[in-house]
Amino acid sequence: MVCAVLSVGAAQMRGDDFPAYDLGTIPAWQDLPSLRGDHPDAQVMSKAEYHRKLQSLDVEHLYNAIATLMTTSKPYWPADGPQDGDVSSYAGLFARLAWHCSGSFRMINDTHAAGGCEGARQRHWPENEWRDNTNLDKARGLLAEVKLQFGDHISWSDLMTFAGTVAIKASGGPANKFCFGRVDDVNGERSIPLGVEGVSQCHGSKFCKSNFECPNSFRWPEQNNTDHARCKIEQPEQRLQASHSVGLIYVYPEGPELKTTSQDYKPYWVHNRSPRLSALEVRDTFKDRMGWTDRETVALIGGGHTLGRTHGNCNLTGSKWAEDPYNNIGPYFEAMPGSLRGPTDGTCGTGREAGRGNNTVSSGFEGPWTRSPSRWTYDFFDALLSEEWVPTKSPYGNDQWHTRDRSSKFSKTMRLTADVSLIADPAYLQIVEEYASDHAKFDSDFADAWFKLVHRSEDHPHQDDLEKDASFCTSFEFTVSQQTLLP
Ligand code: HEM
Repeated sequence: MVCAVLSVGAAQMRGDDFPAYDLGTIPAWQDLPSLRGDHPDAQVMSKAEYHRKLQSLDVEHLYNAIATLMTTSKPYWPADGPQDGDVSSYAGLFARLAWHCSGSFRMINDTHAAGGCEGARQRHWPENEWRDNTNLDKARGLLAEVKLQFGDHISWSDLMTFAGTVAIKASGGPANKFCFGRVDDVNGERSIPLGVEGVSQCHGSKFCKSNFECPNSFRWPEQNNTDHARCKIEQPEQRLQASHSVGLIYVYPEGPELKTTSQDYKPYWVHNRSPRLSALEVRDTFKDRMGWTDRETVALIGGGHTLGRTHGNCNLTGSKWAEDPYNNIGPYFEAMPGSLRGPTDGTCGTGREAGRGNNTVSSGFEGPWTRSPSRWTYDFFDALLSEEWVPTKSPYGNDQWHTRDRSSKFSKTMRLTADVSLIADPAYLQIVEEYASDHAKFDSDFADAWFKLVHRSEDHPHQDDLEKDASFCTSFEFTVSQQTLLP
């Protein structure tokens, strides 16, 4: 009975006007039979069969289909850009999709690998309900149009990682090579060890439990006692979550709030988030849990935050969502109107406007990192060094940073505490300085780190494993005459 009610709701998600939405996101209730073992196959299509189909994939055609989609704003999920004075583009959305899909990869002692985008488990529960993946259902819904066009010739995991890479390249950024061959899983079972959070569609099953709060937690000695605790690396059942909570698989963007007794505390600031402590959390997650070097960490964060923006324009102050923003039932802020699962209940627009465009709330932060978020630039590092960044609040109420000089050319850009941490930590700062003065070096390091990011997974733990297995790569030769499609 519960399933029947939920199935109606899921089918209506985003209504008739998001044509292929349901292809990109499989609700938990649909996965339950295979999670119970009714369908023991681990893959949608066998590896041999998929690798055979790949041989007839027209990579240039696929690249152009994604690049065209990227610059064609759809009314059912308007592309960003114009609100920041740039052209419409889904580049940031597609790059974040690839990052979140791939960034679940964990490697322990160079022997035990888990996560990664191969398997495309982000379409399935539990990953599709992780708080950090908010609004990525829309990215998958948009890409479903390309998936329909190419059918079995492209797996979802290849499509999501390739779309992120095309987003960077077609925006003028660096990408040298991409290899295909990732095989999709039938459900999200292999992501359960990474943590379960957001079980709204999963009632009545033994799989439906929430690991929202990590049992082994701590606060930094200088951290305010009322601020969120952080997760220790050791968790029950060897869970491989990140430094904050399950749903935030990476780093807590606001960073730790200082105690009023801390020597750095400034009573006149609107918040006292500590970039210095945040840097420890960035390193803890990127180095200790994901296996990235400091250089790769700085390149990835700076490159990732060159495209796109944060979303929290809808002012929730005083609403019930402000009181209980992460209501532990997920998916967060992405439900259909009337579902009572997010600000689309009318708090942030109604009817067709609900939760879209200026009413979007993803993370609750607000603004782009650069002056032209639809194209590849070097503003991220340049402004990080040239400006003094001071605490401010987003309209939603999140703690973020803007330039002290409000007439600066970067005054409309923002930084997260985790971004500012890159100039608060001496080792990161050295790399930021190098990248700000040598853009070619930054491009080259970013391209290498991005390749590693999207190619490592549980099934292919080293960056060249996939190429050895499937032998189907592109070096984007066909883009030589069209580096960017943007005007
Ligand atoms: C310390 C690590 C990081 C933190 C705390 C962080 C946090 C965030 C947050 C809060 C957003 C806003 C989401 C929204 O409101 O839509 C965001 C967006 C984004 N992030 Fe990160 N991020 C990190 C690292 C990275 C990395 C390594 C990449 C890529 C390699 C990346 C790529 C992006 C992109 C492209 C967007 C823009 C999304 C859009 O335009 O829709 N991030 N990030």
